Amino acid sequence: MLEAMSDFFTARTEMYDEHMLTEVEGCKEGYKKMASLVPKETETLLDLGCGTGLELDEIFRLYPDIKVVGIDLTQSMLDKLRQKHPTKEMRLVCGDYFQEPFGVNVFDCAVSFQTMHHFPKDKKLSLYKKLRESLKDGGEYIECDYMVLTQAEEDHWFSENERLRREQGIVDDEFYHYDTPCTVYNQAELLKKAGFSSVEQVFRVENTTMLVAKK
Ligand SMILES: C[S@@+](CC[C@H](N)C(=O)[O-])C[C@H]1O[C@@H](n2cnc3c(N)ncnc32)[C@H](O)[C@@H]1O
Repeated sequence: MLEAMSDFFTARTEMYDEHMLTEVEGCKEGYKKMASLVPKETETLLDLGCGTGLELDEIFRLYPDIKVVGIDLTQSMLDKLRQKHPTKEMRLVCGDYFQEPFGVNVFDCAVSFQTMHHFPKDKKLSLYKKLRESLKDGGEYIECDYMVLTQAEEDHWFSENERLRREQGIVDDEFYHYDTPCTVYNQAELLKKAGFSSVEQVFRVENTTMLVAKK
């Protein structure tokens, strides 16, 4: 039974950090790797789907004074993030990153970790265009996500999602939790199509894959 996206994460908030750090291969190293890739001169950072902020825990270790805007659908995940970092300069927005405005030329860097694999390519393409615009010239977007290697795997997960949504009578625009990973190749192509000038794979442990896209 598919669960509405925010209900899914609300029900799992308490055990979320432990789960990601011990059970999802590549994440523990991935959070550190992401922090190490944030450019040194970064002052402003956008985090899409920041959740409880596992990537921010590592980023704050290296850059304690960085200013963060974090957007997430699930209030309980944001509450946990705020409890962990009560004094940090974070503007936390409980909302949908497809709908929220990001501004133009405002961020030095943007990140997302394990959130983009829930959405179809057409939605991600328009999001990436908006994201690119929100970066300053020379800015970078670092994405770590569940990605697969073959088109057959990607097609399988997308068609399973379609089947389950149909069976439950879920309408097109409602967010329900189901993993629909894209291939690394398709994900990189999507970022290039959105206008990023270069996209490089910098990390892969099991299916946890990291791409750096430059404006
Ligand atoms: C797997 S968690 C990742 C959280 C964090 N980035 C990490 O790696 O620990 C995915 C997060 O994305 C958020 N999310 C999913 N769809 C979203 C959307 N459309 N807008 C904003 N947040 C979203 C969920 O609420 C959840 O907190």
